[in-house]
Amino acid sequence: MLALGSDHAGLPLKREIMGFLDENGIEYKDFGTYTEDSCDYAVFAERVCLAIQSGECEQGVLCCGTGVGISMAANKMRGIRCVVCTDCYSAKMSREHNNANVLAMGSRVVGAELAKMIVDTFLKTGFLGGRHERRVQQIMALERGETLQ
Ligand code: RB5
Repeated sequence: MLALGSDHAGLPLKREIMGFLDENGIEYKDFGTYTEDSCDYAVFAERVCLAIQSGECEQGVLCCGTGVGISMAANKMRGIRCVVCTDCYSAKMSREHNNANVLAMGSRVVGAELAKMIVDTFLKTGFLGGRHERRVQQIMALERGETLQ
């Protein structure tokens, strides 16, 4: 199950992505926001990340105006590796090398069709493991307050 979330600025892009997911039979749960009323992106980043932490969802897609604020909030949550993407190459690499589990995009940055391609790439690409596993574990060690020095 894919978790979706956005603030008001990301809502139009999230709706486009929901259409893409519907067309492709990909299951998702929308954790809001549901209206154009101004709201705070961190609230929705937290909802999506809590769903991933609990195991209810495996991955998430977050949208705000730039993708920046909502990804910053997501990356404060334990176990979350959120990537902001404006291109398919980064989306692919974030899965293969970094085992990203949340994708963030900006509705004021990427067009709907590019965003759909980025989502498609992100969802279809797997983690390669190997030497990348050690590096991801290092990221997680930093999250626990450990040093790599
Ligand atoms: C909202 O205006 C905007 O600041 C927000 O969606 C996001 O772009 C922040 O990073």
